[in-house]
Amino acid sequence: MDNRFPNKILLGLQEGDCNLSCPKCYTHGENAPTDKNRPVETMPFESFLKLCNEMAPFRPRVTPQTWDEPLLTPNLFRYLKAMKDHHLVVTMDTNGVLLNRNNRKALLDLKIDSIFVSIDATTRETYEKVRGKDTFKLVCENVEKLISERGESELPRIGVSFVIEEENSHEEEDFVAYWKNKVDVIRVNKVFSPLRRVEGVKHEESRDTCWSLNDSMMIHPTGKVSLCCVDTHEEVEIGNAFESGIAQLWRHGKFEEVRQLHENKEFSKVSICENCNLWSNDLPVKESDDEYVTVRTDTHYYINRRDRINSAPKTNRYLK
Ligand SMILES: C[S@@+](CC[C@H](N)C(=O)[O-])C[C@H]1O[C@@H](n2cnc3c(N)ncnc32)[C@H](O)[C@@H]1O
Ligand code: SF4
Repeated sequence: MDNRFPNKILLGLQEGDCNLSCPKCYTHGENAPTDKNRPVETMPFESFLKLCNEMAPFRPRVTPQTWDEPLLTPNLFRYLKAMKDHHLVVTMDTNGVLLNRNNRKALLDLKIDSIFVSIDATTRETYEKVRGKDTFKLVCENVEKLISERGESELPRIGVSFVIEEENSHEEEDFVAYWKNKVDVIRVNKVFSPLRRVEGVKHEESRDTCWSLNDSMMIHPTGKVSLCCVDTHEEVEIGNAFESGIAQLWRHGKFEEVRQLHENKEFSKVSICENCNLWSNDLPVKESDDEYVTVRTDTHYYINRRDRINSAPKTNRYLK
């Protein structure tokens, strides 16, 4: 029996709005491949509940945003509560601007599984260059308060994120040193170019079926499905999850067709895959010492505090 299902679902509860303007962003940035004037769209709650019912038995990790800011979603906590009531594993990325007292309390009370806050800098000047606005101090304070208000509870797992680009690469080391003892995990990754490429990929010759095709699905507020997380402007026609259901789209049709093309190494037959090298976010190499478990791929590294490792989602594909 075919009971395949995505391990991770990026669920665009609301798209088209953000309170920052990071130049690198695929949807709000200066080189965004996505139309910047697209309307703000929110996922209807009834359609969302239908997806929750379908997801619940499989317990995928669900990220309540795609390439937008989740804390701007109207009634976000109603959606998040429904996800937790369906026993889904909820892992959120936020820019942290709206991590105010009320929102922190709601996230802590719901025991969201993980929250990554994107900071990308250790100074106000650099932050403004890479995040587009002067909210460095506010965001850092919000993270520190979230950590202290969570205390020793296992959840939520709290992480900070740093995307390396030309303007901030000199702060990477200080960033890691500053946050290493404070958060549970630090994520550092190379910036993706608008062509879906990162520099310095070592395994360019040994390209294989992309891990994402058997791992993740991205669903937009209209129910439309993208091939992967960098198919932000829905170039590949997959179908609609509200109409066909997630499992049907995952196991048949375009997803299967693209998997087959990848198996045959016919990458150029899929427009968005042709020049992409983000498939290299695979083949993790793990290093451990008494304090940290570090996982590295060609595109990312994660530094996990050993004493907080039990809070990592069990389906984390690097720590399994
Ligand atoms: C697209 S954002 C959405 C969630 C939220 N607004 C935020 O900024 O965290 C998710 C993550 O992608 C990162 N990101 C944005 N543009 C990127 C790019 N071109 N390459 C790699 N990561 C990028 C962000 O810094 C953030 O950590
Ligand atoms: S905060 Fe997130 S969604 Fe907003 S512009 Fe930056 S990366 Fe994009």
